[in-house]
Amino acid sequence: MHGVNFDVLERRDPSHYGGLTLAELEAAVGGFASDAGLVAGFFQTNSEAAFVERLRDVAASADALVINPGAWTHYSWAIHDALELARVPAVEVHLSDVAAREPWRRVSVVGDLCVATFSGHGVEGYRMAMERLAAELSGVAEGN
Ligand code: DQA
Repeated sequence: MHGVNFDVLERRDPSHYGGLTLAELEAAVGGFASDAGLVAGFFQTNSEAAFVERLRDVAASADALVINPGAWTHYSWAIHDALELARVPAVEVHLSDVAAREPWRRVSVVGDLCVATFSGHGVEGYRMAMERLAAELSGVAEGN
């Protein structure tokens, strides 16, 4: 699940986000999922309400979740609460290294509900997330 502003990913600062389009990101992530023996589905919206509604009911369509809420990561307690309701294992991913940027990006309101966080690895962070979730779903995951 991609959050706000991912629909214009190719227009965002390439030094942080790599200059790729959302379609290119999703094609890569779909490949990582399939390499890990998983099937990926995707969702992006700029509406926090739509994101919350999809997230809290995600178990109807998925066994696990990779979540990059974009800027909502840093302040949306509504998304935190929706993730609590999701009741599937979740991994948080950020393309950029949020810990090395502005201080307000160092806070994540979803991290405590995720089994792992990968930040600053670019697209490869999604491969790490898929591998972590495949391990989680097969019951062999330990720690972060
Ligand atoms: C982001 C990091 C956030 O701070 C930012 O607001 C984004 C993208 C990332 O993937 O690096 O929109 O989540």
